Amino acid sequence: MEDRMGEHPGNVESEPVRQATASCETEDLGLSGRQCITPEPLDPCTLVIFGASGDLAARKLMPALFNLFRNGGLPDRLRIVGCARTPMEDDAFREKLRPAEEPGSPGAGGAWDEFAARLHYQAVDYTDSASFDELAAFLGRLDAEAGTMGNRIFYLAVPPILYELLARRIGEAGLASEREGRNGWARIVVEKPFGHDLETAMDLDRSLHESFAESQVFRIDHYLAKETVQNVLIFRFANAIFEPVWNRRYVSRVRILASETLGVEHRAGYYEQAGVLRDMFQNHMMQVLALIAMEPPPRFETDWVMDEKTKVFRALRPFPIEDPYENLVLGQYGPGFVNGAPVPGYRQEAGVGEDSLTPTFASMRIYIDNWRWQGVPFLLTSGKRLGRKVTEITIEFREVPHSIFRNVLGERVAANRLTLGIYPEEKISLVFQTKNPGAALRLRSVTMDFHYSQNYTGPVLDAYEKVLIDCIRGDRMLFWRQDGVELSWSFLSPILERCEECENRGRMLRFYEAGSMGPEGAFDG
Ligand code: BG6
Repeated sequence: MEDRMGEHPGNVESEPVRQATASCETEDLGLSGRQCITPEPLDPCTLVIFGASGDLAARKLMPALFNLFRNGGLPDRLRIVGCARTPMEDDAFREKLRPAEEPGSPGAGGAWDEFAARLHYQAVDYTDSASFDELAAFLGRLDAEAGTMGNRIFYLAVPPILYELLARRIGEAGLASEREGRNGWARIVVEKPFGHDLETAMDLDRSLHESFAESQVFRIDHYLAKETVQNVLIFRFANAIFEPVWNRRYVSRVRILASETLGVEHRAGYYEQAGVLRDMFQNHMMQVLALIAMEPPPRFETDWVMDEKTKVFRALRPFPIEDPYENLVLGQYGPGFVNGAPVPGYRQEAGVGEDSLTPTFASMRIYIDNWRWQGVPFLLTSGKRLGRKVTEITIEFREVPHSIFRNVLGERVAANRLTLGIYPEEKISLVFQTKNPGAALRLRSVTMDFHYSQNYTGPVLDAYEKVLIDCIRGDRMLFWRQDGVELSWSFLSPILERCEECENRGRMLRFYEAGSMGPEGAFDG
């Protein structure tokens, strides 16, 4: 322990905890912020949420902000301004968002009142520039009253079709410019989808950049804010033992799986246009792939990490679109049972046409053309209404080059497998072979598990809490950079075009029963 403190002054947070089966030491590398929510004091600021009466604000943003508040994770001088079209008083807005009292957390009501005092509401007509001038005046008054010092985050929790308009209006009202010095910063936060294809992604970017510099733009991918996704880089680059085997010589295949039990829910309008490739692959799956495949950057700094991810996207082997069936399975769920309950098929969902050919499942085999990964297939699979919700990355290693047991055991030696579990269990598991106890010589596959929460008792940040904290800190590490967005679209666009050609739409789609694990054979890789 002393040696370690000598190496990393100030980094060690807790004594190693010893258990019969495992031991853990925790060091804050400034990454997760799990132990102490914010490593440094946060600037005072105002968070302006457009689309404040919408689903995202109510279901994700407000609960995340309230939770942060309860855990002391927000700046002392913070104001939250909800904006939407409907006129409303502050008090009505506060009441509308008040969470139901949870039996398990008495006193939440008191904390809510304290938190709600920081909430304000300003009606804004997005089409009217005068309305934005009023907003600017309101924010100016708030700065004077609450000491928020002109620091502002504009969170666009609105349908993507409004991004360009809102960014322009914010700029026209003079709200996007940053003042000299430490205070008076302005940031804009957008959620995926970043465009519908490469061209629209570039259009969106141009509109954002009319008013904002790239350093002011935060493009959210909530997968990046998941603790175990962040952990991929720690696992790979803070341990010397894994990196030497993390390549084509030892790895036979990598699988990235994000299966969901949920269907399209109330989002048919969006999903009918998007389908699984735009909804999950263009963003989340690509980011996870990049973390697994990237080279170590010289230092853990935002642009350097992003540069390495960009190199992965550049090295993606163009997809063989002339014969897509070999490497791509698309599916759509039909009726079935999930968790024992009957569920409708995709075509029976509200807002979906009865002859819809939108894929809700995809399994895609892709290759990365560089020295490290040449010839190693990456199998990316994601789908809705599958039997289980599982998010995990599996590294399948090669079999032993020569089995000395062949003549004794008469069986193949199963290869090692490393699984980085993201959901439902946050864990790392390694499967390896041992001798089965007893007189006979037999192999036994065993699993060594590390559970991420093992020996940890501090507060756990959910993805939105992490994202909000990072926006306030101005840390862009867990967000998309535009070059990555464009490269991801460049890779996917030809595939989308090919799949969406009229004659291919129906031909490529395989139907699967809700509650199954997708079209038959899709997982075989
Ligand atoms: C969203 C997609 O980005 O990610 C949804 O739009 C999907 O369709 C969701 O359900 C999955 O996220 P998670 O965190 O539940 O794996």
